[in-house]
Amino acid sequence: MTVCEYKPGLEGIPAAQSSISYVDGQKGILEYRGIRIEDLATKSTFLETSYLLIWGELPTKEELTAFEEEILHHRRVKYRIRDMMKCFPETGHPMDALQASAAALGLFYSKRALDNPDYIREAVVRLLAKIPTMVAAFQLMRKGNDPVRPNDNLDYAANFLYMLNEREPDPLAAHIFDVCLTLHAEHTINASTFSAMVTASTLTDPYAVVASAVGTLAGPLHGGANEEVITMLEEIGSVENVRPYLDDCLQRKSKIMGFGHRVYKVKDPRATILQDLAEKLFEKFGHDKYYDIAVELERAVEEKLGHRGIYPNVDFYSGVVYRKLGIPTDLFTPVFAIARVAGWLAHWKEQLAENRIFRPTQIYNGIHNADYVPIEER
Ligand code: SDX
Repeated sequence: MTVCEYKPGLEGIPAAQSSISYVDGQKGILEYRGIRIEDLATKSTFLETSYLLIWGELPTKEELTAFEEEILHHRRVKYRIRDMMKCFPETGHPMDALQASAAALGLFYSKRALDNPDYIREAVVRLLAKIPTMVAAFQLMRKGNDPVRPNDNLDYAANFLYMLNEREPDPLAAHIFDVCLTLHAEHTINASTFSAMVTASTLTDPYAVVASAVGTLAGPLHGGANEEVITMLEEIGSVENVRPYLDDCLQRKSKIMGFGHRVYKVKDPRATILQDLAEKLFEKFGHDKYYDIAVELERAVEEKLGHRGIYPNVDFYSGVVYRKLGIPTDLFTPVFAIARVAGWLAHWKEQLAENRIFRPTQIYNGIHNADYVPIEER
């Protein structure tokens, strides 16, 4: 075996072969199963896209209807899970609540049969169906309310907004939310997907796979950045303060949230689509001053850091959209997770098809033959 150079963060090291998605970071191209994200965002739905990601092909009308119906029938969560969630502290972060409740599903569906396609399908359906219900339930329960039962007359995206806000959403808002889910559904071997793949490679259950991925997505360098972006825009407070704020960040060498990407060296195509969606929402529901701050920040960052390939990523404009949809700031990352479950499950299935446990090596840089010093002498 040849000895490879150590690359912090595994930059540029292929850790898998995959046919699920593709990113060209120089040209700003993202494809799911070869289909451009722009096409999926305008022509598909989140559930159709999930089917494409997980089973590799666009479904026929009958296959899609059957899939949607299965999801619809599995949206409810068992009362014991709701009771468990009621005991979570209301001050806890919703990502922690989601990680715990996703893992708890494994207690109820513990009979593992990874070589059985019916088991795989059931797990996919359960996770896609129940994760939004659990996110909405925690939101209501932490306010002291009972969770809202899923509404069988509403599609996937509309039903989530309904369970969250306790009223049927405007059709444009529901459509835009569905597009947001499609945009966030998959993105090659990012940190949370890698986490899912490593966990999957041990042949554990899919609920543990998703729970480990949720924990990884939560960090501010990954999915958690969408929440940090809004906090940053609030801190900036006005368009006039954008440049002084940015100069201060650059001087302190602190990261500007929602900017930069390991792979993209141009603007993330998802950020461009999200920006369009934000403008559509403002046309109907009124403007948001934080959008103006965001646009000015993008301009200023491009001037100062564009030559280094630092541009808005997916997390930059998503928060502005979610705010307008009435989603609380600390639910932005759980909403990212609702979408990314599709990608995680696609990678879980792909990993199982040709599995070998992940076990990389390390370069030991510690000492050898060290003396054991008795405690009294230390
Ligand atoms: C997501 O991987 C995926 O696909 C993830 C994702 C997905 O869909 O799954 O796209 C979702 O996680 C988006 C990223 C969200 N995170 C943020 O917005 C946090 C802010 N961005 C960064 O911290 C950073 O850009 C990362 C974490 C996204 C990428 O990290 P890298 O590839 O390890 O890059 P780096 O931190 O080593 O930065 C390289 C250089 C550094 O300068 P030098 O030390 O070389 O002088 O670029 C600078 C950095 O300081 N830099 C930034 C910056 N991002 C990079 N400087 C200021 N602000 C930034 N945001």
